[in-house]
Formats: sequence, structure tokens, C-alpha cells
Amino acid sequence: MKYYHTNSDFLWGVATAANQVEGGWNEDGKGMSIADCLRYRPNIDSKDYKSINTIDSQEIKCAISDPSTKNWAKRHGVNFYHNYRDDIKQLAETGIKAFRFSISWARIFPNGDDLEPNQAGLDYYLNVVKELKKYNIQPIMTLSHYEMPLNLVLNYDSWYDRRIVDYFERFAKTVIDYLHDYVKYWIPINEIDSIIRHPFSSAGLVEDRFPNQNFENVIYQAMHNQFVASAKIVKYCHDNYSDLQVGCMITRTMVYPYNSDPKNVLKATETMRDVYAFSDIQARGSYPKFLLKELKNKNIKLNIKKEDLELLKEGTADFIAFSYYSSVCTAYDTKGLKVTKANRTVGVYNKYLEESQWGWQIDPVGLRLSLIDLYDRYQKPLFIVENGLGAEDKLTCDGKVHDDYRISYLNDHIKEMLISIQDDGIELMGYCIWGTTDMISASSNQMSKRYGLIYVDLDDNGNGSYRRFKKDSYYWYQNLLSYGSEIP
Ligand code: BG6
Repeated sequence: MKYYHTNSDFLWGVATAANQVEGGWNEDGKGMSIADCLRYRPNIDSKDYKSINTIDSQEIKCAISDPSTKNWAKRHGVNFYHNYRDDIKQLAETGIKAFRFSISWARIFPNGDDLEPNQAGLDYYLNVVKELKKYNIQPIMTLSHYEMPLNLVLNYDSWYDRRIVDYFERFAKTVIDYLHDYVKYWIPINEIDSIIRHPFSSAGLVEDRFPNQNFENVIYQAMHNQFVASAKIVKYCHDNYSDLQVGCMITRTMVYPYNSDPKNVLKATETMRDVYAFSDIQARGSYPKFLLKELKNKNIKLNIKKEDLELLKEGTADFIAFSYYSSVCTAYDTKGLKVTKANRTVGVYNKYLEESQWGWQIDPVGLRLSLIDLYDRYQKPLFIVENGLGAEDKLTCDGKVHDDYRISYLNDHIKEMLISIQDDGIELMGYCIWGTTDMISASSNQMSKRYGLIYVDLDDNGNGSYRRFKKDSYYWYQNLLSYGSEIP
């Protein structure tokens, strides 16, 4: 038996996002956000992320005219908005040192373009971080996690519009100025690469609002605007609060060649370059040549100002945060090969791996490979800010959830992480399980796709008591954090 331990400052934690847990969608001055327009759609394949989250102007109209909460899962979340004290207390009792969560932009600036912030929104988040401080838990704060005020979509064309950079900057500075005494770690934009895969739920882009434009060009321009906004926030923190650290955040999908056919290896390398592009820009401060070439080949023209390039250089991230759930294979010719989906990336099935109930292939070694790759590429501290298993859980009649499948997923990933810290010479700041309590799934808007250490009694249609029950994985994590990790 060999024992591995992390340093005492290692940030063991849990993670969540405002739009998936809070609810209270129109309370205390909050404006409507894009997440309030996403409904659970029982008739669509819950693994088909694109169909679920591609919505048009008609659907937005429908959402605006329907004030109900039940039809739109993220409007009710799991009531963290009112229950945060109790949820934090229960999670604190596992021994966590970090709690990653996001701020709802529309709670602070209900329309996005308001001149003054909504004080009730600021105070709400101040109360949340004070509560965390009570238990000595570090907040890891994401400023934009799959939501923005809907008004910025309807009247400005979302992140495609350069003015949104200014509004985001105003929002971010307001929040940072207000909370910097309590929050040391900041992440401007969650999974910044996701704009390519799901432009609406990630960045409010609705295709039919751009009838005369190449929508791909629109997406890439919005992506550039997000990079600029992000760099501005890094620079603002560095210039004003020297003790703050700002990270970039990417979806880390591991892509393997289907086999050793060099053509498949080349295909995998190309796909991984697309994954790296997003961290390259934020970690190194400039567009990688391969991306510029790719955009040129696709005839995509970006409006990049000279000062943007300066900003990207000045605002490089202090650490690389990433989510990791699964991996996929790829091949130059996928005809006849079984398809799989990993966190919204479609790829070729890997026969060596098991898959989750939602078809995400389970690959703990892929996490170790990701740590090695990312550290070798950037030599910056890494932070695993999301890792977890979405599964259907059963609540027993005596209020228990025996989620041994989740324990085994988490155990195997943590094991690879600890080996990597020990043997691979990487620098890792922390590890956060996704999630906290159960919450609404980002991709499918389902409640039944559960990730939490704490079960919430609620179903896909918004029915239930909202009561909380600790799962077996809760006690397992508590035990791990109390006694350290044992690796055979
Ligand atoms: C990450 C997102 O990509 O995946 C989270 O940052 C999300 O918001 C998580 O919840 C799991 O995805 P899903 O779609 O199963 O909820």
C-alpha cells in the first residue's frame, strides 16, 4: 500500500453554477437571463445536446410570455437562492476547502446595460461568501457561467456586439470591487470554448437573428470579444488587487486517435489543437498561428483591434482551470464506426472504456494525461474545477442514496490525479467535484441527470419537496478529506 497526500493548501472542493442551482429567477430585482429560456424537453434525446439547446427567436418569445417556473427548469433550479446557508453548512461538513460557484449577471445588472447595479444582488453574493468564510472555505468565483441578461441578446446581439465587452467589464469590476476581500480566485468565463459547440446557452447567440451573415463568423467574432473581456478582467485585477488570481477555464476533452493509423493520429492531433487554441490564447496572450490559418481557410474574418492584441498579452491567466469528464476517439474516416458523445463533443467510441448512462466514456487516465499535457504546454498552475458523474440516483425509502458508481468514478479520477501530482511533476492548485447538491443539467435541462453529493428531491418536471439527502458519495468524500488518500 502506498499513501499519497496533497499539500495542506491544496483546494479540495465542490463546484456549481448559479443558473443550475439558484432558482429565484425573478426575485429581488433579478432580470431575465438566457438560462431562463431553456426548458426540459422530454421528447428530445437527452444525449443530443445540440438539438436541446439550439433555440430560435420564437422559443425566446414563448419563454418571455410564459411567467411560469415549472416549464423552464433553470428558473427553479434547486432553490440554492434561499437554501444556501443550509447547503453550505452540509457541504462544509465534508471538510472541503473550496467552493466554486458563479454569479448571475442578471442579478447584478438585470438588463446588462443598466448604469447602476442592483444592490440586493450584490448583497446576496456577499452573504454567500460570508457564509463560506464562516467555515474557512475559499470561494472560487466564476463571473459568467452559461448566462447573461436576456436584454443583451434581444437588443444588442449578445457577445457578437462589441458593447457587451464594456457591459461585462462594468459587471465584473462592480463585483470584484465589492467582493475582493472575500474572494481571491476568479474565473471570468466558464468553458470559453463552449461558444463553438452551443452558441446560445453559452453566449446568447441565436442564429436567426443574423439572417445575412455567416453564423460561424458571428460565433468566432463573439469568441474574440470574450477573449478581450476576459483579458480586461485579468488586467484589472492585477492592476488593482495584487493578491487576486485570475484563471482561464476550458473544457478539457481528451481526444485519442482511433488506432495507430498515422492518418488517425494526425486527425487526433488536429482536433486537440482546436481544444488547445482556447487556452493558448489566454495562457500565452496571442492567437496561435494554426488557429489564424484555420480561420483564414474557412474565410472567417474577425474584427480584431490593435489594442486587443496588446490586451491579450497583458491579461494572461494566472492559472489554467479546466473541467474534465471523459474522452473520445477520432478517425479521419468515421464511416461505420460507433459514435459517442463526451461533454457535447461527438467522437468515435473507445472500446477500452465504459460509458455513463448518458454515453460519456469514463476515462480516469485521460485526466492524468490532461494534467501532463496542460502543464508541459504552459508551465502554469492547473486547477481541476469540475469532475464528476451524471447518473440517475435512487432515493431509498429510508432516505439513502447508494451511489457506489459515483464513488468509483470519483475515486478512480482522484487516484490518477494524486499519482500525477506525485510522479509527473505537475503543479495543481485544487480539485472540485461537480457538483454540490444535485442540480439542473446544463446540457439536457434534466433534474434526473444528477451529479451532487447531496440528493435533492425534485423530478424533471419540477415536482418534488426540494428536501436534501446525503448520498453515500458524500460520506465517502468526507472520509477522504479527513483521512487522506490511499492508493493501491
Ligand atoms: C460542464 C459545465 O461542462 O459540464 C457544467 O460547466 C455542467 O455547467 C457540467 O453541468 C456537466 O454537464 P451536464 O450537461 O451533464 O450538466
